[in-house]
Amino acid sequence: MAEIIGGLTSSHIPAVGNAYAKKMFDDPYWKPFFDGYPPVHGWLKEKKPDVAVVFYNDHGLNFFLDKMPTFSIGAAPSYENQDEGWGIPTIGSFEGHPELSWHIIEGVVGDGFDVCSCQEMAVDHGFTVPVQLFWGDRTENPIKTIPICINTVQHPLASPKRCFEFGKAIGRAISSFPGNEKVVILGTGGLSHQLDGTRAGFINKEFDLMCMDKIVDEPEELAKLSIHDLVREAGAQGAEFILWMAMRGALGDKVAEVHRNYHIPISNTAAGLMLLETRA
Ligand code: DHB
Ligand code: FE
Repeated sequence: MAEIIGGLTSSHIPAVGNAYAKKMFDDPYWKPFFDGYPPVHGWLKEKKPDVAVVFYNDHGLNFFLDKMPTFSIGAAPSYENQDEGWGIPTIGSFEGHPELSWHIIEGVVGDGFDVCSCQEMAVDHGFTVPVQLFWGDRTENPIKTIPICINTVQHPLASPKRCFEFGKAIGRAISSFPGNEKVVILGTGGLSHQLDGTRAGFINKEFDLMCMDKIVDEPEELAKLSIHDLVREAGAQGAEFILWMAMRGALGDKVAEVHRNYHIPISNTAAGLMLLETRA
């Protein structure tokens, strides 16, 4: 059966895509951010996962406000990155794993999550920036990907508890896939940030660090938060934390924290990076 070996989280700030393209890794502004990633690169080199299941949110590239599914799962042989208007150079398409995608879709629909299946899916910075940060240009370290999009843009949003339960259903489905794949789960976006309105620029370090602590051993405590709690404490776009909750749900009961980095600010956002390993 396929095996979930761990979870990774990363913010997905579009400015990172530009800094990456310009190789600004040692620039004083960017260094404390990029320096968080090499320990994860080492772990990925050692563990060599075959597939990344990526919980991310689309920001208007693939879905717009006229059609906004809550949960969508990619089931395509490959996923295109397209120009989304931040001036980020588009990067090469991402190889999919349609058999595992359909197995996951069957599993979660059977579990009561009526998802939108996507046999075509364009992926934006919410997906591309974290995958690029972890796997570079994917030539030396190839990885198949399955994008799972959760709406964080148009209210009403699914609650942290609902996303945690969705992640658990995804985890059960992956673990029942008849294959030898080693799977890593990504929770992207966050941490605290607000891009618009009177609270633009809002960041809450204390709340972010509490979330990073509790997501390891006490995710049920975070599942008690409402979307309103998240928006109040982490900012309107800090609600992207529901993607981390889905990731944590997929990892099962016990995990060990192997690495973390937290850096304020990158653009308007508190950047959070974590590596969690599953434990029997
Ligand atoms: C920024 C952060 C985001 O999560 C996003 O989707 C777009 C921009 C920012 O901080 O600039
Ligand atoms: Fe975002």
